[in-house]
Amino acid sequence: MGSEIGVTGLAVMGQNLARNIARRGFPVAVHNRSESRTKHLIEQHGDEGDFTPATTIEEFVAALDRPRRIVVMVKAGKPVDAVIGELVPLLDKGDIIIDGGNSYFEDTRRRGAELAEHGLHFLGTGVSGGEEGALLGPSIMPGGPKDAYEPVEAILTTIAAQVDGTPCCAHIGPDGAGHYVKMAHNGIEYADMQLIAEAYDLLTSAAGLSAPEIAQTFEQWNEGDLESFLIEITSKVLGHTDAATGKPLVDVILDQAEQKGTGRWTAQSALELGVPVTAITEAVYARALSSRKDQRVRASKILPGPAAGTAPEGFVDAVRDALYASKVVAYAQGFEQMRAASEEYDWNVDPGTLATIWRGGCIIRARFLDRIKEAYERSPELPNLLLDDYFSDAVANAQGAWRKVVRTAVDLGVPTPAFSASLAYYDGFRRERGPASLIQGLRDYFGAHTYRRVDRDGAFHTLWSEDGSEVSAD
Ligand code: 6PG
Repeated sequence: MGSEIGVTGLAVMGQNLARNIARRGFPVAVHNRSESRTKHLIEQHGDEGDFTPATTIEEFVAALDRPRRIVVMVKAGKPVDAVIGELVPLLDKGDIIIDGGNSYFEDTRRRGAELAEHGLHFLGTGVSGGEEGALLGPSIMPGGPKDAYEPVEAILTTIAAQVDGTPCCAHIGPDGAGHYVKMAHNGIEYADMQLIAEAYDLLTSAAGLSAPEIAQTFEQWNEGDLESFLIEITSKVLGHTDAATGKPLVDVILDQAEQKGTGRWTAQSALELGVPVTAITEAVYARALSSRKDQRVRASKILPGPAAGTAPEGFVDAVRDALYASKVVAYAQGFEQMRAASEEYDWNVDPGTLATIWRGGCIIRARFLDRIKEAYERSPELPNLLLDDYFSDAVANAQGAWRKVVRTAVDLGVPTPAFSASLAYYDGFRRERGPASLIQGLRDYFGAHTYRRVDRDGAFHTLWSEDGSEVSAD
């Protein structure tokens, strides 16, 4: 008997995934371009399970039982194509390549089609939970042919995080569906993190709390509806003291956020699909603005803000409620985007399944996901989470606090792009009639782009430069 599965690419994520597989009793072959990593894995963790180290890619493939199941854990982009190029000549029809990196979904669609020409299966698979999740149980989002998922289902559902006895792993849909929802997961993660950062900024700048005090506040919030991995680790990061200076670590970290690209891809795809993911997109822009540190230092000396002020009574609780309401909007937007993508690419992605497998293992894991799961159980075709009774009540109850927080932020000059965009989306979404009528009028005036009327069917154009009469444009 050979190995049931193999992992090539043994950086920390790949190494930890291989360890997770071995610990769960599956014989696993392991390979890395530079052999030192393979040796390090076996020296440090070889006793955790049945590992078969391979020096070459040929040896690695030869160690695998048929159909061969190979997890590729290398950097997204050309490295994935390079590894696939090495593997294809060594594989036989029916073998399965699983890309567990943060690959762009269109690349996954292309790779799947190319490999199918060789009779090979390709599973573009989102793996969320970082290094710890890879080792202890990630949320796993495989996309590709269902008959390619079945031979790996037992392994993936065993190594995934488990919540109430349910694995945080399920077949998402064909071709790029798995990597798409992982991308959208990361977009939601960006929004979540930006909202948390704005709450921290408000509690610092408007409420005058110190990092340790805010750490305690987040720890309390983590006992309520906001309970989540990100709120939990926010408390830990804010409570951490820098050994070198004795100051809160967050006070000595440079305020320039970086990004590998998944949040940006989410915003780009949403623009293509015409889905307003305003909180996610503002989170991407906020990272870009933060990266312009030199300009911001210069601007801070020449651009005046409002006079200093203090936050109103009950502000800390108001920030908590505004954070929850904004989070509801961000998730509503993210789930609407995934529905739109599923329709666009004919993936038939089930939002309830996503909420279920995101309850554990992944970075956005939260009690909140149970509420989303329940909302889609009540109404599987729900177009927007804000139309679900639980969430519409939750946001309605929070809107007073939400408005107080955004008003205070504006009055005190504290930037809250994600809080504000979420509130603006909420007010736009609940607006039965808005100002787009004027936009249509203006478009018709300068471009004769026509408009529709509320009282009659058809398209119309006004002869603005003539007698101003209206003509049918149909
Ligand atoms: C996850 C994380 C993981 C990675 C982020 C970082 O789901 O486990 O999201 O994929 O840590 O993608 O992305 P940025 O560098 O873009 O913040």
